[in-house]
Amino acid sequence: MRVDGRDADEVARAAAVLASGELVAFPTETVYGLGARADDDAAVAKIFALKGRPTGHPLIVHVASRDEAGRFGTLSPLAERIVDAFWPGPVTVIVRRVPGAAEAAAAGLATIGLRCPAHPVAHALLVAAREAGVPGVAAPSANRFGRISPTSAAHVIEEFGEELLVLDGGPAQLGIESAIVDCSRERPALLRPGVLTRERLEAALGAPLAGADLASPRAPGTLESHYAPRARLRLMPTGMLKTALEVLGSDPLKLAVYSRSVPSGVATGVRHRRMPARPEQAAHELFAVLRELDNAGVHLIWVEEPPPGPEWDGVRDRLSRAAAT
Ligand code: TXA
Ligand code: MG
Repeated sequence: MRVDGRDADEVARAAAVLASGELVAFPTETVYGLGARADDDAAVAKIFALKGRPTGHPLIVHVASRDEAGRFGTLSPLAERIVDAFWPGPVTVIVRRVPGAAEAAAAGLATIGLRCPAHPVAHALLVAAREAGVPGVAAPSANRFGRISPTSAAHVIEEFGEELLVLDGGPAQLGIESAIVDCSRERPALLRPGVLTRERLEAALGAPLAGADLASPRAPGTLESHYAPRARLRLMPTGMLKTALEVLGSDPLKLAVYSRSVPSGVATGVRHRRMPARPEQAAHELFAVLRELDNAGVHLIWVEEPPPGPEWDGVRDRLSRAAAT
């Protein structure tokens, strides 16, 4: 059931649902989350069951403010710098977990992911939940395991149906998930790029970030193929896309194209969406476009590789994982 997330009564009702150990989907500035009270392992188990997510994949715990973060994890000096600079906002820190806290959400790991979202509806829900005795809300993206993340309430209903309570907060502004910075090790590592660039994160840290590939041991759940449409997605350099269209032709029933320019080989009637020139706009619409093209029932989605440059890291990461199946 979809309700207005800007209505304080609906938010209070949703907080009561969370307090009772049931699930609520809610908007954040990145993507929509599927939440359960983080201090209740049985409630968290319902997330894994509904998503079809393997239980070894830890969830991020969302908090109303940094004060609640300490209930779940110990902010290291590096984590403090990220939190000071960017919370509330689209960055998750991985820190040492408080023993016994949010066991199921953290998948039993010694570390935990913490995030304080900036979206007003997410914030209102977390504050109302705190008042109802819920110290934090474990929430992965509100999609079935491995599928495209939802950036609107309608996407969440497409994933899980009308049974689930969904707070509608409009389209997610940023459109791709939070950057994840692992602050639990000696050298901080960027486990997942987001809209906040590596440069900005490194400036706040005062230290270089290792890439996910250098981060070891690897975080479970960060490297598998993901964001998978039903159609086969191919990511191609500009020249290869042109050639492929010229040589293979384009059948409107089979193919959709997402590219910055309209290549000459695109036949009329082929579903084409133009990738925005600015990375923030591309991130904002990415998952909605993939979902739309996929729902058109094509077999193939050909995507032009984004331009080089760190500001495209988040979009490039999501596209290459969508292509990895
Ligand atoms: O923007 C976001 O972060 C969204 C919204 C809802 O807040 N949430 C989200 O959650 O993307 P999810 O579950 O789809 O992705 C969580 C990622 C996974 O890749 C998981 O492996 C990683 O966070 N993660 C969580 N806890 C971790 C930990 N202790 N160590 C390493 N990685 C962790
Ligand atoms: Mg996800």
